[in-house]
Amino acid sequence: MKEPLILGIESSCDETAAAVIRGRSLLSDEIISSAQLQAKFGGVVPELASRAHTDAVDEVTSRALRSAGVKKEELDAVAVTYGAGLLGALLVGLSFAKGLAYALNIPLIGVNHIRGHLAAAYLEDAALEPPFVTLLASGGHTAILYAKTETQFEILGGTLDDAAGEAFDKIARVLGLPYPGGPHIEALAREGNPVIPMPRMLKGTGGYNFSYSGLKTYIINYVHTAEQRGEAFSRADVACSFQHAALDILIQKTVEAASEKKTDTVTAGGGVIANGYLREKLAEACRRAGLKLVIPVKRRCTDNAAMIAAEGLIQYRAGNFSPFTINAVPSIPLHMN
Ligand code: KG4
Ligand code: ZN
Repeated sequence: MKEPLILGIESSCDETAAAVIRGRSLLSDEIISSAQLQAKFGGVVPELASRAHTDAVDEVTSRALRSAGVKKEELDAVAVTYGAGLLGALLVGLSFAKGLAYALNIPLIGVNHIRGHLAAAYLEDAALEPPFVTLLASGGHTAILYAKTETQFEILGGTLDDAAGEAFDKIARVLGLPYPGGPHIEALAREGNPVIPMPRMLKGTGGYNFSYSGLKTYIINYVHTAEQRGEAFSRADVACSFQHAALDILIQKTVEAASEKKTDTVTAGGGVIANGYLREKLAEACRRAGLKLVIPVKRRCTDNAAMIAAEGLIQYRAGNFSPFTINAVPSIPLHMN
């Protein structure tokens, strides 16, 4: 039997994206980003994001179909992010997907964006099967999960306050770096050393939970005190010390969770997983612990539509199609399809 051909559409934040998959094979993966426009404002302006999606959604979808070499009439389903995200932004992609699915008379599949980040790993390794432990670290969510099946997850722990990406974005602002903060902190950290002692962030306690608020307050105080006293300090050392503290704990707790769950596989997803230091150290830690690591390429850690198509495939196989009355939902739990 031929594998289903699925178009994914993503518009939850500042990337308008479309991708085509055939089963777990990725045929195309297109993104038009308004991040540079948003950077001028130090973060995503919802109204600007919605307008940028309206400009880009038709073009990005045409590109995805063209580079996949498929005609829209060949598609078996349209998968689209319906939440979580910015309401107006979500509505652009969702309305477009509805129109397309309706016109083609094929199923519409509303996808939970967070579940998309988790599904990205399936495109990386066609043989990947649950159970496994997953590290999810994005701008809105940070958690360690146990995936029992493709659709059932146990949340082992998570952040008690900020998401990891949110912490990177806030510390970037303190250091005068542009939005989004993650890649800029990573670049600056390469010029520094992890020499500034940082708070422990529930190391050795709190189960698989962690907290970024103490680390954030500590760094804000460190930088402001130095600035007020007119003392010189190395922004690169601050970035590097923060990056180590923020990410080491995620790696350590993920490997511990895999050992407790007696699984031999670890996956990861979300924007923060694009971080080179994290990728290197997580790979090293998994190697030492004898764990197989499946990690999406950097482009599919940050927001993309291939992951939405991948989660769409899971729902397609489960027969979970959405009614045309489906609405955008700004905040949805991981457990919702
Ligand atoms: O998954 P994502 O693209 O969007 C959400 O669903 O939230 O994640 C965006 C977050 C931002 O906070 C961004 O600063 C962070 O991921 N991020 C990074 C890196 N690239 C993106 N954080 C650390 N290092 C990076 N290289
Ligand atoms: Zn995301």
